[in-house]
Amino acid sequence: MVFGVVVAVWYSRGMEKVNLRTKFELFSEHWKPKVVGELNGQHVKLVKFQGEFVWHDHKEEDEMFLEVRGSFRMEFRDRTVELREGEFLIVPRGVEHRPVAEEEVAVMLFEPAGIKHTGDVESELTVRKIEWV
Ligand code: NI
Repeated sequence: MVFGVVVAVWYSRGMEKVNLRTKFELFSEHWKPKVVGELNGQHVKLVKFQGEFVWHDHKEEDEMFLEVRGSFRMEFRDRTVELREGEFLIVPRGVEHRPVAEEEVAVMLFEPAGIKHTGDVESELTVRKIEWV
């Protein structure tokens, strides 16, 4: 019985649509990504942020940022990319980057489930356990 419920919950997770606006209303912290979907070993995450993140890279993982609300810039060591609503950017593995937002933004991330969002950098912003919303 319990097993059946667990299986039902497991399957329903992938069979229900997700409303981004509703999900973004469920949290307000900055720099704390929340998982909203999972497929093929990848996580779909939502995050809000404002200000400067830490410089970091991901040795093994590419990371996708889709701007849902607002605009921010992705700084690289040799250039900067401005991201506006409806635009996305893929940061290749091994490339140092730092997101910076003058005003609060809402962003969707797509990346491998095990990724550490600050890479090997330990910072007060590092989140070790990523939660679902
Ligand atoms: Ni990153």
